[in-house]
Amino acid sequence: MRRRGLIVVLAVALCGGACSGTGNVLVAEPTVTTTTTGATATTTATTGATTSTSTTSTTSTTSTTTTTVVPREVTAVNGLGDSFYPYLGNGGYDVAHYEIDLNIDPGANTIQALTTITAQATKELSEFNLDLSGLTIGGVTVDGSKAEHSRYDTELVVVPADPLAAGAEFVAEVSYSGSPEPISDPGVPFFKLGWHNNDGVIFTASEPSGSMSWFPSNNHPTDKATFEIRLTVPEPLTAASNGILVEETSVDGYTTTTWRMDDLMATYLAAVYVGDFERIETDQPDGPLIRDYVPRADSDEIVEALRITPQVIRYYEDLLGPYPYEVYGSIVMPFGLGFALENQTLSVHGRDTINPLTVAHEIVHQWIGNSSTLQDWRETWLHEGFATYLSAMYMAEHHGWNLDQRAAEWHRQLADAVPPLEIEITEMFGASVYFIGAVALHELRRSVGDSVFAEILRTHYQRSANANTTTAAFLGVVTELAGREAAGLVESWLHEVPSLA
Ligand code: ARG
Ligand code: ZN
Repeated sequence: MRRRGLIVVLAVALCGGACSGTGNVLVAEPTVTTTTTGATATTTATTGATTSTSTTSTTSTTSTTTTTVVPREVTAVNGLGDSFYPYLGNGGYDVAHYEIDLNIDPGANTIQALTTITAQATKELSEFNLDLSGLTIGGVTVDGSKAEHSRYDTELVVVPADPLAAGAEFVAEVSYSGSPEPISDPGVPFFKLGWHNNDGVIFTASEPSGSMSWFPSNNHPTDKATFEIRLTVPEPLTAASNGILVEETSVDGYTTTTWRMDDLMATYLAAVYVGDFERIETDQPDGPLIRDYVPRADSDEIVEALRITPQVIRYYEDLLGPYPYEVYGSIVMPFGLGFALENQTLSVHGRDTINPLTVAHEIVHQWIGNSSTLQDWRETWLHEGFATYLSAMYMAEHHGWNLDQRAAEWHRQLADAVPPLEIEITEMFGASVYFIGAVALHELRRSVGDSVFAEILRTHYQRSANANTTTAAFLGVVTELAGREAAGLVESWLHEVPSLA
């Protein structure tokens, strides 16, 4: 209870309510006092099994829905055993590539869709699962032959005509249609996840579970894949998605754009936007192509604020190594969101988060979060603590922030918070993960010095680039480069925030 007051003060004092971390917390905090146990919360997480009242955002349509679903036991088939989301992802296969073809009617909020999944069986499979929420299946094929399918909770069970041999590559095609709806996720109690339609503007915000509101997948960050996303929308609307725009055609009043993400991407970072956006490209002599999407009307300030992007990218290239992708940019909604999200190569912002701190925060995530990705959703501090601290480092370099003062202030405000690795699922994106996570890194830096600290960051990133990582792996790097005591110092902040004298 006491924490709530402190955190609201923190949000206002530190970022004027504008940075992504505190923006979340302001809205999220009232639910943090839930008495749900880890185990129960976990169950409700992945199955939509909550009896819940939907959240209200400042911008999306407000509605109240109540759903009660009894989850089945987690098995090696229907989940990967994530400690917060045991049902996300599925066992028995490894996805290499998704091709997602969406025909979108923004006015009606409906899609006609075909998702083609190229995967490899990791054992003999008489059936396998995909994760999908809502929508209606038209049919499923595996290697071109009709497959049986059934559904429960957010599981789509596929039974191929012939069992797949261990090691076999296969292609599953799922055709589906309907009206995608965002889903409740206990990890993000302040916002529904996945597909939103706000007055004809389509946007997705999927971390962690929401991608299953618009395409079937192995919905866990440990199974990354390449993507090709094709969007057909009525003219004159603009559509945008991850990666490089490789083709644009116009037929009978509809525009089809094809987007290719040739680097590995976790499902939660896949994204789709449709609306009246203007594409703005910035040429850089070296470094990735920069392309932003801003609301066509009234966007001068936004365009101006996004001008820092190439410089921010260069700052993190110096710190961590080359930018991991071919392209980067922000897409800014014509309304506020209360947070921003680091979709791979295309971060989404509301009008309310276009400030240097949050722009930098989402850029850090392209390295730390998107390329080097957590292995278990319990460890969000590996993304958010790092993005908070590294964006504060940018602010120190370019906007005069004093990090000793900031860290002391964060600690003062959060001295009673649950430490980052002791949290319940409801606090995955709460203040402790962001700010105590950042203090842990600041304390490490003060103890080992700037150059060893930079070497630790670079080594941690480079060892897990394009893959997954854990707190244990990070502490291993710290131990290697700075000794056991330094690793112990970081660990202490993650498990027991020292109280103030
Ligand atoms: N990773 C986002 C950030 O940059 C988290 C935003 C919270 N919203 C969400 N849907 N997970 O802070
Ligand atoms: Zn973040």
